[in-house]
Amino acid sequence: NKKAFLFDLDGVIVDTAKYHYLAWQKIASKLNINFTIKDNELLKGVSRVRSLDIILELGNIKASQEDKNKWLIEKNEEYLSYLVNMDKNEILPGVMKVLDFLKEKQQLIALGSASKNARPILEKTGILHYFDTIVDGNDVTNAKPDPEVFLIAAKNLNTEAKNAIVFEDSVAGIQAANIGKMTSIGIGETKTLHEAKYIFENFTQISTSFIENLIGEKN
Ligand code: G6P
Ligand code: MG
Repeated sequence: NKKAFLFDLDGVIVDTAKYHYLAWQKIASKLNINFTIKDNELLKGVSRVRSLDIILELGNIKASQEDKNKWLIEKNEEYLSYLVNMDKNEILPGVMKVLDFLKEKQQLIALGSASKNARPILEKTGILHYFDTIVDGNDVTNAKPDPEVFLIAAKNLNTEAKNAIVFEDSVAGIQAANIGKMTSIGIGETKTLHEAKYIFENFTQISTSFIENLIGEKN
């Protein structure tokens, strides 16, 4: 039996969600926009461009395209400054155990991320070679909750959606998996991710027998 395991990146594999938040906060505070950690949930899984629009909406600010472009560059530069010294220590607890187990069981593994920084992050953390396909912000036109990113990943792996399992920390990503008729697994808090089929606080809570059951499931 072969399944396809599709991983979101930020907040699932690596602890970069906090850096996205800090970088956006810098832009928001410069614009005098009150942007809380709760507001930040709306930005998880959402593209850079759309994220800025959401923040500007929060502050009721209308801006020119020129200003927006400037802030998008600033945000990314700030974000990248946090990644300079990134290495495998930034991989979230329990992730390597699951990746290794999937490899041992010869399952297909994909990345499905909205980020345009996905490849350098996988390289820096030394796990690029685990992925049979990488679909990121450079490959998609429709952002999560549109299932496009995961559908492309499944297609690249020659897998039907019903045989795909998605790990996500964002509400938009869980919705994308559900809309795509894939099995959704939320990584984070139940109160946020309740739309997921399964929810775990983090990967250390995911047992190999749980994964084995997913592999063995007939759909
Ligand atoms: C992920 C993150 C978002 C981020 C998006 C784009 O989905 O969860 O917070 O905005 O990627 O990332 P990028 O690295 O291209 O700015
Ligand atoms: Mg994420």
